[in-house]
Amino acid sequence: MATNNGAQFNRHPEPTFSSDQLVFTSDEKSAMQGYLEMYPEPEGAIMRGLWLAQEKFGFLPPEVIRLVADELGIPYARAYGVATFYTQYFKQKKGTYVLDVCTCFSCQVCGGYDILHYLEDKLGIKAGETSEDGLFTIQEAECLGACGSAPMLQITNGRYVHNLTESKVDSLVSDLKDGKMPAFESVTLPQDETEMGGNRRDDVESLEYYKTPPVAETFE
Ligand code: FES
Repeated sequence: MATNNGAQFNRHPEPTFSSDQLVFTSDEKSAMQGYLEMYPEPEGAIMRGLWLAQEKFGFLPPEVIRLVADELGIPYARAYGVATFYTQYFKQKKGTYVLDVCTCFSCQVCGGYDILHYLEDKLGIKAGETSEDGLFTIQEAECLGACGSAPMLQITNGRYVHNLTESKVDSLVSDLKDGKMPAFESVTLPQDETEMGGNRRDDVESLEYYKTPPVAETFE
């Protein structure tokens, strides 16, 4: 059964990790020390420390946030506040690949919801859920700053995939199932149409194309 990662954050869940698991290696402790030396106040190291912990544990339940706070010598509440502010820090376990599909304005008017729904149908889960095999989590994202290449998605806080079409989604899912990350696609800011060099969708002629119209059109 798919798991719902969009559920309200539980502040006092049963711990996921045992005390035996809640340790940093000597290399990780050195990295934490390095972060502390980069900033005038230990709080400056929170974001890097949480990131290191997420890379290690996969997500940040309260016991992991506390481990980071203790390692950095800062109050738990400070680390908790940062971890719960940014969506890039996962508070629940997610799939191997977290697909953040942008449905903000530019992506929306370029068919972002069609892409989201296509992906949902393809993987058999809804936004906020994780596939039964644990490979994919789909999330609906706010603007990811690549509006010129809409519609787009981001893979697990990293690689962007631009100018999405259904066939591009098919290839992406198939590649990820094979453990292949898509190639990095640069976002160009051409001064001239001829410089676009293929970095633009050309399969859409009008908004009639989209199965899910932009939300603004449904207000009337
Ligand atoms: S609206 Fe999707 S990247 Fe900006």
